[in-house]
Amino acid sequence: MSSKRTQSAPVHNNFNAQPRFHQKSPEIQAYGTVSHMLPLELEEPIRLEMTEQLNQLLADTMTLRDLYKKSHWQTSGPTFYQLHLLFDKHYGEQAELVDAIAERIQLLGGISIAMAPDVAETTKIERAPRGREEVPVQLSRLLDAHQIIIGEARILARLASKLEDDGTNDLVVSDVLRGNELQAWFLSEHLVEMPLVHAVTGSKSKSAA
Ligand SMILES: [Fe+2]
Repeated sequence: MSSKRTQSAPVHNNFNAQPRFHQKSPEIQAYGTVSHMLPLELEEPIRLEMTEQLNQLLADTMTLRDLYKKSHWQTSGPTFYQLHLLFDKHYGEQAELVDAIAERIQLLGGISIAMAPDVAETTKIERAPRGREEVPVQLSRLLDAHQIIIGEARILARLASKLEDDGTNDLVVSDVLRGNELQAWFLSEHLVEMPLVHAVTGSKSKSAA
């Protein structure tokens, strides 16, 4: 006769192969704080200021990244294929910026904003509707978002330079500012009214005479 007893894995040195699920604990660092001491030669108040400003830039960059994916999925019309590809290219580049900004915040001893509800509460970019919009409206919405990010990137770059946080200044100028300026150019050129077949200005072509 077998005795009824619970089977459990043998325990050696207090380690057990059984995964421990549903674990919870208080946070180990509160949002909005920075580690006291780091080997960066940047004082705590400077790192606090930089991480706060970078989190605003991060929330806006995450919003623009997601706006690009929305536009990639929902675009339509004769330029569908071109815009579908362009929007996804810009999405990928914004996703890389998100990672670079978030990791800059962490390495400065701060905490990066991460989850969608927190991003939505923080971003300065106007909320887009769930439904589809016309292509010129998609482009305008994306350009408005770029303008917000470009403006705050310039202010942040100057502040970082003043506070001697050269790493933040370099990231914001070289990657965020220049990347957004370039993407804004690519979008803007799609909003120039340009005839596809007949030139509107200048002399008439002989074939049209
Ligand atoms: Fe896709």
